[in-house]
Amino acid sequence: MSSEIIVVKGNNTLAGDVNVSGAKNSALKLMAASLLGQGASTIHNVPVISDIEIMSEVLERLGAVIERSGHSLRVDTSQVDRCETPYELVSKMRASISVLGPLIGRFGKAHVAMPGGCQIGARKIDMHLVGLEALGVEFDVDHGVLVAHTPNGLRGTHVMLEFPSVGATENLLMAAVVAEGTTFIENAACEPEIEDLANMLNAMGAQVTGAGTSQIEVVGVPLSAMHPCEHTTVGDRIEAGTFLAGGALTGGPVAVHGIDPAYLRMAIMKLRAMGCAVETGADWIRVSRAGDLTCTDIQTLPHPGFPTDLQAQFMLLAAVAEGTSVITENVFENRFMFAAELMRMGADITIDDHHALIRGVAGLQGAPVSSTDLRAGAALVLAGVVADGETRVHHIEHIDRGYEDYVGKLSRLGADVARVSAADAR
Ligand code: UD1
Repeated sequence: MSSEIIVVKGNNTLAGDVNVSGAKNSALKLMAASLLGQGASTIHNVPVISDIEIMSEVLERLGAVIERSGHSLRVDTSQVDRCETPYELVSKMRASISVLGPLIGRFGKAHVAMPGGCQIGARKIDMHLVGLEALGVEFDVDHGVLVAHTPNGLRGTHVMLEFPSVGATENLLMAAVVAEGTTFIENAACEPEIEDLANMLNAMGAQVTGAGTSQIEVVGVPLSAMHPCEHTTVGDRIEAGTFLAGGALTGGPVAVHGIDPAYLRMAIMKLRAMGCAVETGADWIRVSRAGDLTCTDIQTLPHPGFPTDLQAQFMLLAAVAEGTSVITENVFENRFMFAAELMRMGADITIDDHHALIRGVAGLQGAPVSSTDLRAGAALVLAGVVADGETRVHHIEHIDRGYEDYVGKLSRLGADVARVSAADAR
């Protein structure tokens, strides 16, 4: 738990330009992928956030040497000689399981603690396992540790995912690149971060085509053909979407830079449907709003559908929009905890299973609130910017997991926001 809280003074607005960091959900997997190229890979545009520190720890436990210089990470995996990832790390960050595929690819075996439940639903890993089994991996569970081995090596195959899981697609991809023969992944996740991962794997010597679509083809190469590389992480579409939500909430204009607008087509469509003007350039998006926010219905879906990671931020917009909106969460169970906190600030929301009915209110009131996960935390700080009075956001360790310098970036957009020691704030 963080020893700090974020204090936001309300009745305010956001305007200006903000640079988006590299995508958390890409950089974590790019770091894992570096296990496949024995030597030092350099990954640029890596955000300074706590999840990256945890992934660094995961790789260091395996024997990697990691050096950070600004936003570049040099990940030297030449001395990696272990294949165990303990529970204490997997329980801190579920994405630690993305070392499973590359460890199997490199060593033919892996010992990775099973991730436990998580605040946003059950988040199983059955699809990771079914897909890897099809490639020839055998699994046992030994006292909570998933023990993977490949008695007959990795063999290319056809895998049809039951659901386009991001993590399962990535783990499969990272094992399949060094399997013997060709692997086809059908119903693959299409998120831009998958394409980014495939681009890095290809720069390391892999032969992946179709990443970013639902059909990926991987022509296996020998492990010895994989080598280190230099790669730049794509911009973080969720961070960009969060600041755009901030602009839409306050009227803006807010422009986000360092992001391909194609990654956010559905979110941009919803911003326009809610009454915002959105302009785009090659690597920037600007939002502004002159009239009132209007209600809209949103369903979260795998990419290119509306991202679940922007659901809380858009629930905030719906909470102060004219009319009634319905938000349907299709990706994760139990991802409406944010609604309860927003209701403490005066929002009018009814939850029924995976639907939220949001009746827009004229304004929000500042209140003490708690981040329930990282996106909810970011959205609560935004809510504080427009609320009447002061909002104190607790459990900001969730925000630190995924947003680099969130308070600094918001301050530069004009927010009156500060990190304060929880002890001093009492
Ligand atoms: C990734 C992102 C997360 C994002 C999510 C969906 C990272 C580190 N995290 O998470 O921010 O919200 O994609 O865009 O990249 N499922 C199963 N069995 C499996 C795998 C998944 O039932 O084997 C279910 C999950 O419980 C969840 C849904 O499928 O309900 C989507 O999960 P998935 O796409 O795998 O998300 P993550 O990779 O965990």
